[in-house]
Amino acid sequence: MATTYIPIFSMVIFILTVGSDAGGISIYWGQNGNEGTLAETCATGNYEYVNIAFLYSFGNGRIPRLNLAGHCDPYSNNGCTNLSADIKQCQAKGIRVMLSIGGGPGGYTLASTEDARQLATFLWNNFLGGQSSTRPLGEAVLDGIDFDIEGGTNQHWDELARYLSGYNNKGKKVYLTAAPQCPFPDAWLGNALQTGLFDYVWVQFYKNPPCQYSSGGIANLENAWKQWTTQVPATKIFLGLPAAPQAAGGGFISPSNLTSEVLPVIKGATKYGGVMLWSKYYDDQTGYSSSINGQV
Ligand SMILES: *[C@@H]1O[C@H](CO)[C@@H](O)[C@H](O)[C@H]1NC(C)=O
Ligand SMILES: *[C@@H]1O[C@H](CO)[C@@H](O)[C@H](O)[C@H]1NC(C)=O
Repeated sequence: MATTYIPIFSMVIFILTVGSDAGGISIYWGQNGNEGTLAETCATGNYEYVNIAFLYSFGNGRIPRLNLAGHCDPYSNNGCTNLSADIKQCQAKGIRVMLSIGGGPGGYTLASTEDARQLATFLWNNFLGGQSSTRPLGEAVLDGIDFDIEGGTNQHWDELARYLSGYNNKGKKVYLTAAPQCPFPDAWLGNALQTGLFDYVWVQFYKNPPCQYSSGGIANLENAWKQWTTQVPATKIFLGLPAAPQAAGGGFISPSNLTSEVLPVIKGATKYGGVMLWSKYYDDQTGYSSSINGQV
């Protein structure tokens, strides 16, 4: 009897652990030199998705520029090409690594359909499966592109998504992810998200009082979450949060409040994908991902 009982029991535990309801944690890395290396970030075991931030300037005639704060200077001699080894280590652990374009500061706009096409070509050749003599992160092929568009105009992002998706038939899938603001629909990415081409959408439930969590109040967050999870044709939707109170102007939820009050409410959504945190630096300050890992 015991010999049959134990395998069945183990199987139940296995299903509970890796069941399809389990979410993952997405993190932003790259905007603070004191947040550990990319390899160390992936070695924590806390993250399933890492967004390298940011390609902060591009479009409308600008030369695309990458900034990785104190980690490395993409435009000096050695540059950041040695990040390739770290990227490959992350991917070997099953972690998806994206290049995040946009961000808060910086200048970016797409001026035309042709501008969107050219940026897609640039991203393919410099960060994805294409080839270029100037690949800023070396030869590693990233898993996709993250749209963190928080300024400029709402034009041509849908076309950029279509051009990038066009590379899917060249071998490895190009994941498309996005970090819109929680007011629905998003002022910049609303149209692009309706293309249905996005895999993961980490909605920023912070620095947006109308839809973020506030001192024990979950109603605004819950209303916005319902819109995002029912009206956006993306594969998975994530709750984006600051990893520390000082990481953003409002929206911080303590890990215990998150796991006791918020996750039980939002996890019911079919498209629930997990939690996104800004950023690795702030996560180091609070241990946020370690506190919630396993309950996401
Ligand atoms: C990559 O090279 C830069 C510049 O030499 C160095 O500061 C950085 O620590 C290196 N990073 C890795 C991951 O080896
Ligand atoms: C946590 O929840 C309590 C009780 O609802 C609330 O008073 C407090 O402001 C919340 N704090 C954070 C940071 O989530």
